[in-house]
Amino acid sequence: MNVLVVGGGGREHALAWKASHSTLVETVFVAPGNPGTAAEPGCRNVDIAVDDFTALATFAASNDVGLTIVGPEGPLVAGIRDFFDARDLRCFAPSQRAAQLEGSKAFSKEFLSRHEIPTARYETFTSFIDANRYIRAEGAPIVIKADGLAAGKGVVVAGTVAEAVDAARVMLSGERFGDAGKEIVVEEFLPGEEASFIVVADGDSALPFASSQDHKARDAGDTGPNTGGMGAYSPAPVVTGDIHQQIMEAIINPTIRGMAADGIRYQGFLYAGLMIDETGVARVIEFNCRFGDPEAQPVMMRLESDLVELCQRALDTELTTVELAFAEDVALGVVLASGGYPNNYETGHEIRGLAEDIDGTKLFHAGTREDGGRVITAGGRVLCVVGMGSSVREAQARAYQRVDAIGWKDMYCRRDIGHRAVRRESG
Ligand code: AMP
Ligand code: GLY
Repeated sequence: MNVLVVGGGGREHALAWKASHSTLVETVFVAPGNPGTAAEPGCRNVDIAVDDFTALATFAASNDVGLTIVGPEGPLVAGIRDFFDARDLRCFAPSQRAAQLEGSKAFSKEFLSRHEIPTARYETFTSFIDANRYIRAEGAPIVIKADGLAAGKGVVVAGTVAEAVDAARVMLSGERFGDAGKEIVVEEFLPGEEASFIVVADGDSALPFASSQDHKARDAGDTGPNTGGMGAYSPAPVVTGDIHQQIMEAIINPTIRGMAADGIRYQGFLYAGLMIDETGVARVIEFNCRFGDPEAQPVMMRLESDLVELCQRALDTELTTVELAFAEDVALGVVLASGGYPNNYETGHEIRGLAEDIDGTKLFHAGTREDGGRVITAGGRVLCVVGMGSSVREAQARAYQRVDAIGWKDMYCRRDIGHRAVRRESG
């Protein structure tokens, strides 16, 4: 059979690359894909946009596609699973109702508190007057979030009351986030270390992928503006065996069971963004109804099991019969971005050094485009270079060795991806 991967970023490159290794698969189609997936043996790009459900379903039906895997949140929240189901096409993705766990922060916060799953204390507001009063009563630091999807930019961690009030005013005015901000969540600031905990769920149960950690801030030392992610590595040493068990028992399993009890079976990847405090207690910061980007890149590098078989079993609610295997090695991915990202940046610059392969590394494309035989930049996050190694330090050194062979005008990357794990490793 063939597989269709929906999306065109770094996460989809990693998912398509991994799917292409499946013994069950002839061709992995990627819609729309990128120059990285175009060059991947066993993969072929199809020029269909991620939100054109009719064209995607028609393509799947007429090209022996036995399984569609969806990368980005946009089509998930818009109901691609329901659309494919209605046409009897197998699509591994949460339904539109299930995807509300990411699509609406108000929905997910209400769900978490009703099912007593650990998360930050919060209130939701549609009125600025009420939000203002609450923020002033709570004090800073405090966190303000737009309800809907805002491409990772709808969250303000405010260090002062003035900053929080300002963020609430801007969001509720509808000026910057439109409808996504007409309701806001104001929540308690959680101190600690973040980790990404991604599972595959079949509606009844869930199986965890290896843990990972993402660097969301743009600049060195985790400072600067929030981004989609500047790099990620797996495993995340903060998730010890005990904490892993706690996360499954107190967060993941109650979420899958709670959704089912609410009449919304959750099938698909589920990403819990967690804050782990100094006593080792994990709380949910957010849910995503999809794999992480850039977490997918290092996690797929370590996954030894067949991704396509895994998705098929999950669709058939047979996850209890599956075991996942991961390489012992550490995988560490560095995102190469356009200078200025996540704010204004230029595109269209030619990328040098793409062919310089280095053992123990793999290059995933994200915002790139082919232009008359050259590959040029076409987005904020352009590439993700993953290094593998028996230690974080080794994986990091390999990744940066390959990074140093790549360049374009105004290329930007962090030089300290994995710094917390390196520090833990050094004891
Ligand atoms: P989100 O889009 O909800 O993941 O938020 C983006 C980032 O803001 C997270 O990765 C955290 O670094 C930070 N953040 C969100 N909520 C909180 C919170 N309640 N306490 C501390 N930091 C938070
Ligand atoms: N890396 C964060 C995300 O995928 O949302």
